[in-house]
Amino acid sequence: PRIAVLASGRGTNLQALLDAIADGRLRASISGVFSDRSGAPVLERARDAGVPACAMDPARFDSRRAFDLAMFDAVAASGADFVVCAGYLRLLDEVVVERWRGRMVNIHPSLLPAYKGLRTHQRALDDGIDMHGASVHFVTPDLDGGPVLAQVRVPVLPGDDARTLAARVLEREHPLLVACVDMIAQGTARLVEDGVMLEGVRL
Ligand code: GRF
Repeated sequence: PRIAVLASGRGTNLQALLDAIADGRLRASISGVFSDRSGAPVLERARDAGVPACAMDPARFDSRRAFDLAMFDAVAASGADFVVCAGYLRLLDEVVVERWRGRMVNIHPSLLPAYKGLRTHQRALDDGIDMHGASVHFVTPDLDGGPVLAQVRVPVLPGDDARTLAARVLEREHPLLVACVDMIAQGTARLVEDGVMLEGVRL
């Protein structure tokens, strides 16, 4: 299976996928890396690995929908079977979300359904919770609200600030994402209605 990765930033999650493919832990290939920011370091990581990298500027399009349709035309042209959003900082138009339903996942740095949206680490610290984490979920029109494939739990430690907590979570995001992408690529996990079917069992 071929995986397209959408990302806006530094791309450590993309790197985790590339590394896992290179050493045979992930049986898939990356069809291309797609970004809404031309200067994003993630594009450099793609090129270094010999993967096609594509950046498109939202300001050059009349609407969110026009941009997303063009972006996902490029995704489809890369031959992608699945899309992974890994730090992609744009809301997606419902047309592309529906078109890729069951074939698109997102990694989010919180234990969903807690802390949807942005600034998850700071909000978790502000609330004084002692367990935080990350989730991989299928993308549906419900923002950060689609069915969860898997999560990792990460403790909040005394003295944490948003930076130290984010770093502890990020380290665990990488194996989480690799495992989830392997599950969808091998077909052991898939979206059914609004739940997940794992190894033939409806969760
Ligand atoms: C990660 O924390 C991911 O969960 C969030 O954005 C960050 C992306 O990091 N959606 P990177 O660009 O993969 O390093």
